[in-house]
Amino acid sequence: MRLPLITILWAWSNWASASAHTFPVRDVPAVVGMELYGREISRPLMKRDTATVGADMTTYVSNFVNVSIGTPPQPMGMLADFLSDTFSVLTEDTHVTNPSCHDNRYCSLLGSYNITKSSSNGTKEVSSDTWYGSSYMVPTDVITVGGTQVNDVEVDLLAIGYPNWNSMGLSPENKSFPYQLVDRDLIRSPSFSLWGNTSESGGAGILFGGINKAKYHGPLQAFAFNKTYGTVSLPLSRFQAHTELKVPTNYTLSSSKPYMLSTQYIITTLPREAVLRMYKDYNISFVGWDGEEPQFGLLPCSRQYTENHTISLIFGDATISTKWSDLFIPWGSPDSERCEFLIQPEKENVNATYSGTIGTSFSNHMYMAINYNNAFIGIAALNENPGSDDILEIGDGPEIPDAVGDFPTSIVPYTKPTPTPTASTSTSTGLASMPTYMSGGMFVGVAGAALVAAF
Ligand SMILES: *[C@@H]1O[C@H](CO)[C@@H](O)[C@H](O)[C@H]1NC(C)=O
Ligand SMILES: *[C@@H]1O[C@H](CO)[C@@H](O)[C@H](O)[C@H]1NC(C)=O
Ligand SMILES: *[C@@H]1O[C@H](CO)[C@@H](O)[C@H](O)[C@H]1NC(C)=O
Ligand SMILES: *[C@@H]1O[C@H](CO)[C@@H](O)[C@H](O)[C@H]1NC(C)=O
Ligand SMILES: *[C@@H]1O[C@H](CO)[C@@H](O)[C@H](O)[C@H]1NC(C)=O
Ligand SMILES: *[C@@H]1O[C@H](CO)[C@@H](O)[C@H](O)[C@H]1NC(C)=O
Ligand SMILES: *[C@@H]1O[C@H](CO)[C@@H](O)[C@H](O)[C@H]1NC(C)=O
Ligand SMILES: *[C@@H]1O[C@H](CO)[C@@H](O)[C@H](O)[C@H]1NC(C)=O
Ligand SMILES: *[C@@H]1O[C@H](CO)[C@@H](O)[C@H](O)[C@H]1NC(C)=O
Ligand SMILES: *[C@@H]1O[C@H](CO)[C@@H](O)[C@H](O)[C@H]1NC(C)=O
Repeated sequence: MRLPLITILWAWSNWASASAHTFPVRDVPAVVGMELYGREISRPLMKRDTATVGADMTTYVSNFVNVSIGTPPQPMGMLADFLSDTFSVLTEDTHVTNPSCHDNRYCSLLGSYNITKSSSNGTKEVSSDTWYGSSYMVPTDVITVGGTQVNDVEVDLLAIGYPNWNSMGLSPENKSFPYQLVDRDLIRSPSFSLWGNTSESGGAGILFGGINKAKYHGPLQAFAFNKTYGTVSLPLSRFQAHTELKVPTNYTLSSSKPYMLSTQYIITTLPREAVLRMYKDYNISFVGWDGEEPQFGLLPCSRQYTENHTISLIFGDATISTKWSDLFIPWGSPDSERCEFLIQPEKENVNATYSGTIGTSFSNHMYMAINYNNAFIGIAALNENPGSDDILEIGDGPEIPDAVGDFPTSIVPYTKPTPTPTASTSTSTGLASMPTYMSGGMFVGVAGAALVAAF
């Protein structure tokens, strides 16, 4: 897998601007990058499905990465999952009768892992976090991501069957994949960027440990989120609907709670009252199943291309827009004349952690830089015509590079546990195979350049 992520490593075009930051600029930044791609697994919405999160996972899944596990490598597709902290793979168990891989939709699309076939399989002792538990053994193996080998990664083996699928957990919990990369000295902080349109040739990607300034219209707008909720969230100021040449209509939001960021749900859910105002303005019907409370916003599919509007979500100074025509999905059957609108009202629940969810029809238009050290996310609109890559390490300071936000003055960065996991090697098969970051290693900033040259 050749990756176009890091094309210009040696010829930094941005020395001058980089020097304004305290962020490490090395000749070869300690980052690990790979392509993201979308995968639709369509199944029309049916009775019992709700418009809110959960249901649409099975309707449409997106944001996948290709990795390989074991020796020799077993290739696999995995969901890049903000909601999980485990590295989970489907595995066929010959001891019990469960469906074989090719009988299962996710497994046949994404692949499964056969531990017996891998000579690098191992086990690791994990201490139980329950009061009654002692430690137990979990399987481990080598994972190759974007040309970089990550040794002894704990692998969570899943039986084949709904609702399991391969997933690379990216959540804020300190076992998730970004932390695994820090533990092995491959990146400096539990952080990553994720961007782009995951449809074919969309140029989407994920870059652990860094940002790529070429991919967005900067600066990033950064916001704090609460890690204890277990996922990444964002504050939304308002949303707008815009018809060509007209003044945009603003929909203010009554709730001040944050919005869960999703790379797997296509439906965006926003506070009910604001969504219903928009439905009224745009003649979207709010309906329910026979005799039940309305819960779905539906409209004739024919309106997808006969109308031309833009819907924008406004996060501080960042505006993320989606075309009207990208907000339709057939309702009930693929050839239905009725479509579900991809902005739906959130279920009202005073105790809910979030006001709603930002789904992929918006997150596919965003650049997102997430730093778990300080629990900040920086976002910006994508640059549709990115030039040469311009990569900066996120580093382990209290900020995100190239971002404006109310950052703390200092933080306690995550440090890897002792004893440290076995050091990893890195192969040089791909552009994104960044050499290992050495603790106390070489810094090639502007100030350091002369020093390095003097060696
Ligand atoms: C991921 O793997 C699948 C199956 O091997 C392949 O068809 C696809 O092109 C790969 N995508 C990327 C972005 O590498
Ligand atoms: C896993 O690999 C072993 C060794 O090659 C093989 O005997 C076994 O049938 C495989 N299991 C499955 C479920 O394919
Ligand atoms: C690990 O690999 C070895 C062969 O290298 C195999 O004998 C062993 O069964 C594998 N472990 C498991 C749990 O399958
Ligand atoms: C993604 O890109 C494809 C083609 O490259 C385009 O048709 C589609 O509208 C884009 N989707 C989004 C959400 O930008
Ligand atoms: C995060 O949420 C937890 C649980 O609701 C709460 O106790 C804590 O104060 C919050 N932290 C911040 C910084 O808001
Ligand atoms: C829709 O509106 C945008 C500008 O708002 C314009 O660029 C585009 O050409 C229009 N598309 C159609 C199909 O009218
Ligand atoms: C909505 O907000 C924008 C600023 O983002 C403003 O230009 C516009 O006039 C507002 N629309 C109305 C109808 O007030
Ligand atoms: C609103 O949409 C319904 C069908 O969804 C249609 O019957 C009605 O005429 C539309 N009203 C307006 C004002 O466009
Ligand atoms: C919200 O939480 C409070 C206190 O835990 C509880 O009494 C109340 O029933 C909850 N309300 C809902 C709608 O769940
Ligand atoms: C990971 O988090 C747990 C609590 O959730 C904590 O006990 C543990 O020390 C943390 N590990 C590291 C290496 O920070």
